[in-house]
Amino acid sequence: MNSTHENRAESSLVLGLETSCDETAAAVVVRGRDGQGRILSNVVRSQWERHRPYGGVVPEIAARAHVECLDLLTAEAMREAGVDFSDLDAVAATAGPGLIGGLIVGLVTAKAIALAHRLPFIAVHHLEAHALTVGLTEELRPPYLLLLVSGGHTQLLIVRGVGHYERLGTTIDDALGEAFDKTAKLLGLGFPGGPAVEQAARTGNDARFKLPRPMVGRAEPHFSFAGLKTAVRRTAEMQAPLKDQDIADIAAAFENAVAASVSDRCARAMDLTIERFGQDATRHLVVAGGVAANERLRTILSDLASSRGFAFHVPPVSLCGDNAAMVAWAGAERLALGQTDPLSAPVRPRWPLDAEAPPAIGAGVKA
Ligand code: KG4
Ligand code: ZN
Repeated sequence: MNSTHENRAESSLVLGLETSCDETAAAVVVRGRDGQGRILSNVVRSQWERHRPYGGVVPEIAARAHVECLDLLTAEAMREAGVDFSDLDAVAATAGPGLIGGLIVGLVTAKAIALAHRLPFIAVHHLEAHALTVGLTEELRPPYLLLLVSGGHTQLLIVRGVGHYERLGTTIDDALGEAFDKTAKLLGLGFPGGPAVEQAARTGNDARFKLPRPMVGRAEPHFSFAGLKTAVRRTAEMQAPLKDQDIADIAAAFENAVAASVSDRCARAMDLTIERFGQDATRHLVVAGGVAANERLRTILSDLASSRGFAFHVPPVSLCGDNAAMVAWAGAERLALGQTDPLSAPVRPRWPLDAEAPPAIGAGVKA
């Protein structure tokens, strides 16, 4: 973020746009003088139907779909909020990380609105938007420990403040959402995979198949899901042709293995947080990102948190997946600190949240 003026403690009204992947979204939020947030509108249009025939997100189709509907969704968000562009204090859009075509659509649109209405513009980091969502929903302020689990990222971070993130762990191969999506594909459950696997697992017996629990016991709180995916494939091949009960049992075993692995990694990160901040550390575990919608994960992490004296926080399901309220909120938080961006700010398809973090040993390009 480029320009930093003195702190603004006024209330602010911010329009946010989100186009980094396969959801087109626009929202208006207000941030009060006291730092309290309120969503005035939050419009999301998913493109799943367009990508479904291909079994995953096709970047070119995503970018075109954003172009087709972003103007309409923005108008809808403004109308629902009952505000005019002249009422706004800033416009924010996701600048990265994400798919370059979609990012350009959102950023150019936000810049055009900012230019036409002489408004400050804020280029938002998508993961920062996920990371700060609990400030909007629960008024939780940093520092806190964050598990960020989405389709593209799986990280454990200490959120020290707006713009200050310390990465403790990351995935060395697949992201957790990606592992859910691939497992769904292997089991013939379709796309998007996370909710489909969760649904199938509800009627499954998680003890029938034994799957590996990746990285459990390792000192650094990194993740790995590629081996688990291979184990799912082998199990599915051995049972083929799969009956509904086989699919449910494999899905349940997968969710069980994921929950055990993620819980162990979070426990390790909690130890590290206490080491960093001492016994008096404020103890909060926050989970964010699309996979945070998973009920089993919420339950196991909530239990883990309470067994260790950590408060547990997770946004409502509607704000776990990609949305623009979180982008508008991150913009409002930046604006309150006097941090805005020039209209020359570029899209950043690859943009680490903690640029100082060393690469995880064995990590592929996605870390
Ligand atoms: O945060 P998000 O909406 O988009 C990214 O920034 O990636 O996360 C999308 C991911 C997808 O991989 C999707 O399958 C997963 O979140 N997901 C879930 C659930 N709902 C969405 N994974 C597990 N259980 C769910 N209920
Ligand atoms: Zn996301």
